[in-house]
Amino acid sequence: MPYHPLTDTDTALADGRADASSTTVLVSRRETFNAAHQLRDPTLSDAENERLFGKCTNLHGHNYVLEVVVTGEVDPVTGYVFDLKQLSAVIWRRIIEDVDHRNLNTDVPWLEGLIPTAENLALAFWERIRSELPDGSLRSLRLWETDKNWAEVGDRV
Ligand code: NI
Repeated sequence: MPYHPLTDTDTALADGRADASSTTVLVSRRETFNAAHQLRDPTLSDAENERLFGKCTNLHGHNYVLEVVVTGEVDPVTGYVFDLKQLSAVIWRRIIEDVDHRNLNTDVPWLEGLIPTAENLALAFWERIRSELPDGSLRSLRLWETDKNWAEVGDRV
């Protein structure tokens, strides 16, 4: 009987994994930066800002952690979904070089007019890198503001 190599799907079904066509591979890069911010709406009074944001209205800093997750097919030549050194380079060029050791309220033109909450920063960061990555490959972006708090942006599935 001639040798017939199993297809990927055959192998996946034979060894008990789910249907290979529904399998997703995710890879992620984590980068860090330090920045200062204050949660303050300049159109509101000091009292109103204090009511909304408490002590976060005062200028203070965070050691932010940024995690970017991408997805795609595993390249049969490299074995990569995405070269994470390249992903790192995109994150640095589009985001970190602009925000590291900066005041996020005053120093970053593309954050102008935003209250720099983790949510707003994550949305702005998402827009900064999505266009630099292959269509549909950016899965999620999570910004840790502290060990306890993060905000995440992702495409609706
Ligand atoms: Ni803060």
